[in-house]
Amino acid sequence: MQLDARAAPRAGVGLRLPHLLEVAAAAPRVGWLEIHPENFLANPHAREVLLDIASRSALSVHTVGISVGSADGVDREHLSRVVALVDELDPIFVSGHLAWSTHRGRFLNDLLPIPYDDEVLRVVAAHVDEVQDALGRPYLIENPASYVGFDGATMTEAEFLSELVERTGCRLLCDVSNVYLSAVNMGYDPYDYIGALPPAAVAELHLGGYTPEAQDDRLGGEVLIDSHAKPIAEPVWALYAQALRRFGARPTLIEWDADLPAFERLTQEAAIADEIAAAVSSEGYSRAAAR
Ligand SMILES: [Fe+2]
Repeated sequence: MQLDARAAPRAGVGLRLPHLLEVAAAAPRVGWLEIHPENFLANPHAREVLLDIASRSALSVHTVGISVGSADGVDREHLSRVVALVDELDPIFVSGHLAWSTHRGRFLNDLLPIPYDDEVLRVVAAHVDEVQDALGRPYLIENPASYVGFDGATMTEAEFLSELVERTGCRLLCDVSNVYLSAVNMGYDPYDYIGALPPAAVAELHLGGYTPEAQDDRLGGEVLIDSHAKPIAEPVWALYAQALRRFGARPTLIEWDADLPAFERLTQEAAIADEIAAAVSSEGYSRAAAR
């Protein structure tokens, strides 16, 4: 697929407010930065600093408040505020989750799951069309972190996302950590999931740390929580290598939101992602040379 020329397939990091002034003062040694627009919509000073950063660094806009999975529609007021910021920043990507977080005007501070069936697909596709029309560019849809499923589901999540791409022309943001922890929580093979996504539609990858938590006595065992509060775990790095083999080199983001360490620590995780991408790319060269 055609990527924005500024979207080099290097690793970037999430830019959170505690690091904003540090990043504005010195160019970060990472490929790009991703922001949550919701942090800047009601904060004119932070927005001004961000615009300055955007003039020097490639940025991606990752929304957490555009709720394409809500049955009662996208919050148009919020969408128009995000579009105004996107127009100012001219980011390499605009993305959001396959989830819902608003209902009847109430904002729920969570990304909640949707059932994967034809009816929900029709509703979500209409909302993605609306978002893309407002943005005037493709919207990237991210696979969620899953903890529960729905009995009536008629398709897998990967099938649902593939069909959403077909119907709307949207692109996919494959969160490799979400694939791993959802697969562990829900009991499927994360490598099968990566194998079922349409490679040409995957424009960006995410990597974030998770936290294992014990389930209550009735359920037993443990559940992996998408905490974004830890380094990337070893099984996720291994799955990331497989994602690169299947999708090709893609801009990859290190997400760290809670227990935020020094910015330098984030750049170390980004450097590991770049090392893995280089190793996977050289596997391809060795295979081609051996032919
Ligand atoms: Fe993510």
